[in-house]
Amino acid sequence: TGTLEGSSAKRGLWSSRLAFILAATGSAVGLGNIWKFPYITGENGGGAFVLVYLLCIAAVGIPIMMAEVLIGRRGGRSPVNSLRLIAERDKLHPAWRIVGVIGVLAAFLILSFYSVIGGWAVSYVGTAASGELTGQSADSIAAIFSGLLSDPGTLLLWHTVFMALVMVVVARGVRAGLERAVSILMPGLFVLLLLVVGYAMTTGHFGEAVSFLFQPDFSKLTTAGVLTALGHAFFTLSLGMAIMMAYGSYLPKGISIAKTSIAVSVMDTVVALLAGLAIFPIVFANGMEPGAGPGLIFQTLPLAFGQMPMGSLFGTLFFVLLIFAAWTSGISLLEPLVEWLEEQKGMNRTISTLAAGLACWLLGIASILSLNLWSDVTPLGMFAMFEGKTIFDLLDYLTANILLPLGGLLVAVFAGWFMSKQALENELSLSESGFKLWYNTLRFFTPIAVLVVFIYNLG
Ligand code: PFF
Ligand code: NA
Repeated sequence: TGTLEGSSAKRGLWSSRLAFILAATGSAVGLGNIWKFPYITGENGGGAFVLVYLLCIAAVGIPIMMAEVLIGRRGGRSPVNSLRLIAERDKLHPAWRIVGVIGVLAAFLILSFYSVIGGWAVSYVGTAASGELTGQSADSIAAIFSGLLSDPGTLLLWHTVFMALVMVVVARGVRAGLERAVSILMPGLFVLLLLVVGYAMTTGHFGEAVSFLFQPDFSKLTTAGVLTALGHAFFTLSLGMAIMMAYGSYLPKGISIAKTSIAVSVMDTVVALLAGLAIFPIVFANGMEPGAGPGLIFQTLPLAFGQMPMGSLFGTLFFVLLIFAAWTSGISLLEPLVEWLEEQKGMNRTISTLAAGLACWLLGIASILSLNLWSDVTPLGMFAMFEGKTIFDLLDYLTANILLPLGGLLVAVFAGWFMSKQALENELSLSESGFKLWYNTLRFFTPIAVLVVFIYNLG
């Protein structure tokens, strides 16, 4: 069929381990690391939350990433079809396809608000370049940010720009070029983060930030915090959405799934921790609130750029690189739905990108309004669990804290309990003890951890 030919033609683009690492890193490293990680760490009291998060990356995230990549490589198709093929081959129920469907839905919902935040980054390129930040006080920096949030028209403009960037690349299928750019841009982002960390060391509050991030105070950890840490491990590694499955289908046989998964996860984690080390010294030096919420990086980093030499230049560069990081993640969020529309509805790529992108853009408007005109609208507020949550908060919560862990749980159960063990061993080709460690973690620890956290949170 046309679909199969189409997918084998694309296969050729991804001939090396590096290509996989670039695509997977491009998807993983994004706003989750630089925008979300610092603010949820601040909201959840620091150290203990960070420790739980790191545990979730190591004991839940990495095993599931390996399973997703493995399923993708074994199936060699788009996620829904890979799952279907493996299920057929191993005589399993065709309903396992649902894992792919949950993924497509979650990715769609995430992109709708991810694009709004990506728009904030676009807006700050202009703010930094204009020199407006130079020498400003914390109060006026905060005023610039709240000015942006209170202005639906401007938010809509930048949300539209971000979504258009994503749609252009997806529609033209030129992702390979952008992913190659990742190999230059990611190190660039890394260097700029180091620069801000260097600046942060001069504030006199670096030690305070280090203890905040790395000295666990378990009295500050709530069960909601544990769920947030778990959900963020999925979000930041792009798991539970079958995205790594899609990329895994391009990974050549004979390349270590374990090593590449660990490499991607380590890079992602390093970027998040650096972002924390860059931001919290500025928070403490200026008497700001660590739990300030989603605006945290937009209220702290501009202060640093306003004070350091050549700050306008570095600030502009930083936000440009942040856009690239968010862009590659955004592409990986739109791609699954577009592929699904192509395969299932027989639409061509341009039409399916337009349909998916426009729908996502429309939903994004609800998130924009929930930052200003609809800031009091809490659609599910009657349930204790969703109390006080705006549409934006709800989309974030529903995806990161429910859909992604659920998708990940299903992947773990599918690979750990249903796929043939022989097939798993062949794909991973690990030492006996390495395989056992992975297999048992995936079969027992991962599902139990996710279930326990879920159940605690409901009760
Ligand atoms: N991992 C991305 C980040 O940390 O910004 C966000 C993301 C991308 C989540 C792709 C999910 C996804 F499928
Ligand atoms: Na990430």
